[in-house]
Amino acid sequence: MEVLGDATQMQRRVSALRAVGRAIGFVPTMGYLHEGHLSLLRTARRNNPVLAVSIFVNPTQFDRQEDLERYPVDLEGDLAKAAAEGADLVFVPEQKSMYPDRYATFVEVEGLTRRWEGTYRPGHFRGVTTIVAKLFHIVRPHRAYFGQKDYQQACVITRMARDLDMDIEVVVLPTVREPDGLAMSSRNVNLTPGERRQAPVLYQALRWAADQVRRGERDARGLAEGMRRMIHQGTTATIDYVAVCHPSSLEPLETVEGPAVALLAVRFSKARLIDNLMIDTH
Ligand code: PAJ
Repeated sequence: MEVLGDATQMQRRVSALRAVGRAIGFVPTMGYLHEGHLSLLRTARRNNPVLAVSIFVNPTQFDRQEDLERYPVDLEGDLAKAAAEGADLVFVPEQKSMYPDRYATFVEVEGLTRRWEGTYRPGHFRGVTTIVAKLFHIVRPHRAYFGQKDYQQACVITRMARDLDMDIEVVVLPTVREPDGLAMSSRNVNLTPGERRQAPVLYQALRWAADQVRRGERDARGLAEGMRRMIHQGTTATIDYVAVCHPSSLEPLETVEGPAVALLAVRFSKARLIDNLMIDTH
């Protein structure tokens, strides 16, 4: 496994690999790797002769300084995990090299970024799409892997790749959960023990909504209201949003008539958590 910090060096390495016809699978991350990340690495490893991973806590996607400061870091542990999963190339750039003085270019996806995370974290998606576009230009992958855990992010990146003719297959893989249902997240370490015990209620609420729809419930607002109530009663978290949406436009639904996605975001004392679940009428 090769660890590179320099974008030009990385571009040279991947150009050489592309020149001999080796397909590159890429998993961008912010590090502090857990089983959710590792599931992406495994699938990318299986389906591509070259596995590239990036580890970069991207400052432009943090809307609040304290969230950036609290973001957990464990580079040594991450490199050991990436090596154990068979990564070939790990790109670990410095902040200054990704965003040098007078950095001025940003990528923005309209529409899809307006609601949900876009409302509660202004500028967040602009930071995500900018860094992912930069990483795509540096790593030049054939396929890039993202988790459904960040559902809106996956939609936004898929759209960016399509709109900008990036010629990269964006692959979205299922959310990996703790045994009690809590979606794995690097931010879970910032939950207090009490909050950690409450946190599975988020998934229980999503499951409840999916069950209700399977049993014939069609009122999307009523479902969102029911999830809200469960979270309110079962946790000390503050709710940012709970919604039942169209799975590709992410517009809120009034009636569930086919595939839909339930999206939610809540704030505990020192960790903001998001989760989602696909819902269908059968
Ligand atoms: P990060 O939160 O480190 O996540 C990296 C990738 O792992 C994302 O695609 C995310 O959806 C996926 N992931 C996280 N938790 C998961 C889980 N429990 N199950 C499955 N996949 C999971 O998302 C980012 O970093 C950044 O925004 C990034 C795309 C790297 C741009 O900076």
